[in-house]
Amino acid sequence: MPLVTTKKMFEDAYKGGYAVGAFNVNNMEIIQGITEAAKKLNAPLILQVSKGARAYANHTYLVKLVEAAEKETGLPIALHLDHGPDFETCKSCIDGGFTSVMIDGSSLPYEENIAVTKKVVEYAHAHGVVVEGELGTLAGVEDDVSVEAENASYTNPDQVEDFVKRTGVDSLAIAIGTSHGAYKFKPGQKPQLRFDILEEVSKRLPGFPIVLHGASSVIPEFVDEINAHGGKMPDAIGIPEDMLRKAASMAVCKINIDSDLRLAMTAAIRKHFDEHPDHFDPRQYLKPAREAIEKMVEHKINTVLGCANKA
Ligand code: G3H
Ligand code: 13P
Ligand code: ZN
Repeated sequence: MPLVTTKKMFEDAYKGGYAVGAFNVNNMEIIQGITEAAKKLNAPLILQVSKGARAYANHTYLVKLVEAAEKETGLPIALHLDHGPDFETCKSCIDGGFTSVMIDGSSLPYEENIAVTKKVVEYAHAHGVVVEGELGTLAGVEDDVSVEAENASYTNPDQVEDFVKRTGVDSLAIAIGTSHGAYKFKPGQKPQLRFDILEEVSKRLPGFPIVLHGASSVIPEFVDEINAHGGKMPDAIGIPEDMLRKAASMAVCKINIDSDLRLAMTAAIRKHFDEHPDHFDPRQYLKPAREAIEKMVEHKINTVLGCANKA
């Protein structure tokens, strides 16, 4: 099967009370680790590429690697642009083989967000590609933009119907207290998500797929492993898994995970070099890194997403 859009994935996920994992990819080992786990568990997949990933690995390399993953697994896989910063970037991905794009106008004034999102939707839909928009801003760091927690704002449920109607987006990312990166809460702060906002949004948009960004759990075992092998991440804190599972059982159909991939990979590589200081063949340390990603994604599919056997 060729790469698919997220349309049917989201319809099934909404009805089934689960979410599809959207994993950020930057190189071959990351793609292989994720897709091996999804193949083993027969799970649908969204592989997403940020502006930074395109700059790092090159658009064509990433598209070809994701196409290879689809060919090797036969799974329904969507190739998605994560945090598209402008119309031109979205157009380039639509023209270049992506099946889904996000236009992130969340930091723009409301009417400007609507205008750019609508423009992307018109072009995308004319080319059979689906679009994710965003309302509300998350704290944290993405590409070169850093949003302090104090400046982040929750999504206003009063705006969502108007935004979806006027833009024609196929899914909507909302801000309910998640944030990007490995430092989502201050030490001692109790992790909390605004499920009341999610509930209110889903009442206003019945059956409409909602997206959760900044949804890594910052798995403590990886942080501990990194710190045990020379790393320094003492205050890394993520979203508790039970909260993510609850969101997946509600209107959230897509859960974005990047930081947990980075932590899994880094923990495995740090441990490997501590145990084998003489190794210098990249295959020796990238193999355990790839296996760590596979194991972590299996865990996410089973414990957080609930999308095993839904391919
Ligand atoms: O939300 C941002 C993702 O984690 C992508 O990160 O922009 O550093 O590739 P990146
Ligand atoms: P995390 O940093 O929590 O993994 O979030 C990733 C993300 O939202 C990508 O768009
Ligand atoms: Zn994001």
